[in-house]
Amino acid sequence: MAVAHTCVPLSPNQDCVREISEPREKPMKIFYSAASPFVRKCLVAAHELGLRERLDLLPAAAHPITRDRTIVAHNPLGKVPTLITDDGTVLYDSRVICEYLNAQGDGHLIPPEGPARWSVLVEQSLADGIMDAAVLARYETAARPENLRWNDWTAGQLDKVTCGLAEFERCAAGFGDRVDIGTIAVGCALGYLDFRYASLTWREKCPNTSAWFERFGARDSMMATRPPAA
Ligand code: BEZ
Repeated sequence: MAVAHTCVPLSPNQDCVREISEPREKPMKIFYSAASPFVRKCLVAAHELGLRERLDLLPAAAHPITRDRTIVAHNPLGKVPTLITDDGTVLYDSRVICEYLNAQGDGHLIPPEGPARWSVLVEQSLADGIMDAAVLARYETAARPENLRWNDWTAGQLDKVTCGLAEFERCAAGFGDRVDIGTIAVGCALGYLDFRYASLTWREKCPNTSAWFERFGARDSMMATRPPAA
């Protein structure tokens, strides 16, 4: 448990004469699924900011049809990730949570201003869009009854993934050793494709992205948050 040092007056005339250790504020809690790339993005961000130990994981069963009422009680959308902060404030979605974590930490994941800020945020948007499309296409086979599936719709989602990967490949040489919300989101999107879409074999068409992900995916934060075996 996190511990804070608090000054305790020994008598009314003494301002602060000794320090004791007592439980600090409750840790933050996050509704969590090990399969969700959006949860992973938040956990990697927390890890990179040195905040991971302040996060309690609340296992959740977010699903578009069988909605998890425990999450809905806090977030009407019933989605993971949903964060409950130390003071009980509820935050969602992953972008808001990452902003919050960044502000709680030293702020190095999101440049505060200038061109770097916008390019990092657009990288995050592209990676989030790929994750969105890949998750929606996944639900099409994992959740929708076979007779209601629409192949053209799934193909449209997967085309977003393909076009997004082409953009990663165009930019990958510039990722270098940067660790920020842009590269974290890209890493989580690629990790989700490996997890749910191994048959896409994206590395064959994206050698620069693949070389970058070899290094980035080996970071402690990424290793500690790998999804379970598919
Ligand atoms: C999945 O199983 O692929 C998944 C689970 C939760 C959120 C997003 C994706």
